[in-house]
Amino acid sequence: MMRFIISGWLLATCFLQCEVHAQSLRPDRIVLNVTADPSRTAAVTWRTAQSITTSYAELAPATADPRFTAQATQYKAETTAPFADSLPVRYHHFTFSGLQPNTVYAYRVGQGEEWSEWFQFSTAGLPGEPFSFIYLGDAQANILSLWSRAIRKAWSSAPDARLIIHAGDLVHKGNNNNQWQQWFEAGSFIHSSIPGMMTPGNHEYYENTAGQDVPSVFWRPQFTLPENGPAGLEETVYYTDVQGMRFISLNSEEIRISDTLLARQQTWLEDVLKNNPNRWTCITFHHPVLSTSKKHDNTRLRENFKPLLDKYKVDLVLQGHDHTYARGRSGNTGPVYVVSVSGPKMTEISSQPWMARTGTYTQLYQIVDVKPKTISYRAYTVTGELFDAFELEKQANGENLLKNKMK
Ligand SMILES: [Fe+2]
Repeated sequence: MMRFIISGWLLATCFLQCEVHAQSLRPDRIVLNVTADPSRTAAVTWRTAQSITTSYAELAPATADPRFTAQATQYKAETTAPFADSLPVRYHHFTFSGLQPNTVYAYRVGQGEEWSEWFQFSTAGLPGEPFSFIYLGDAQANILSLWSRAIRKAWSSAPDARLIIHAGDLVHKGNNNNQWQQWFEAGSFIHSSIPGMMTPGNHEYYENTAGQDVPSVFWRPQFTLPENGPAGLEETVYYTDVQGMRFISLNSEEIRISDTLLARQQTWLEDVLKNNPNRWTCITFHHPVLSTSKKHDNTRLRENFKPLLDKYKVDLVLQGHDHTYARGRSGNTGPVYVVSVSGPKMTEISSQPWMARTGTYTQLYQIVDVKPKTISYRAYTVTGELFDAFELEKQANGENLLKNKMK
């Protein structure tokens, strides 16, 4: 009996200790998100203990003189209603607007005596100005243990990246708080400093009590993504324009399971591709148009969306899901399709004619340099070796000349 009491007491103590972090009054899980116009706006989301009902974001142009903090403007955050009785936390978000392009700002979030550090970030520049972005495939498993090295190495290779694409399956169980904790801990200040472009994978979905597959309860409270997509797909289907490239997120899980939300995305996508003033277009979604596995064949996605990607000359299609690496085109023209994986979960590959480069059992990150006339794409292993490289050069007819850069 005594042993039971002691172990019960130890358990209770451990439980409280484990909860100390979650209930901290100081904000955590601070993430910058892409906005519709990252040259003028920036959106930040964070978490506090549930007892905090009012939280603030402060922003100032960053200067080397630390007295810049006196110039900061304070804004009251939007606060989201708690979504789980078992989680005594609250999420807050704020979108800074009226920013100057290509400018380094510093922000912090908090309230009272409890504030985050000041995070520096740069707004996007203007169309035509060169920039880089990072693309990461599935994190999903052993996220803190082994995905951390992927996002950290990617960041150290491209610390001035304008955004980081996370191509779905950020976690394994979309409603698992511990897995999200790992995702935030692995990325740490990188999440807070470079806007993330998150697209949901099948693992961000769960079956609710009504038997419907719906996005994770964490998704919308913990991210603040553009709401310029079709109704019913807010913050999973959206676009952002960065320095002459249109980035589009589609929700491929809904394409797989819902006729209505497939049709809505198809109509919307055609519209944002047709009315696109940017020279370049990059689309991300989780399930691949051209799978690397014979067991996966995403026919609904391919039949309904590939014709649009071809018609509107999309340049890059960045995907995940298959836990392998493959890059290629479906013919001599058309988009370059990439499947990649950043976390440690791996599977075998089924080689197919469309693949120009393949890989298995290799954690990877990608850095893409965008210039007015060329896109230069490089995939690296998490230990820093160049794994794949190609360049796209835009021709007068809008088609791209592809140059393989790997010997
Ligand atoms: Fe997946």
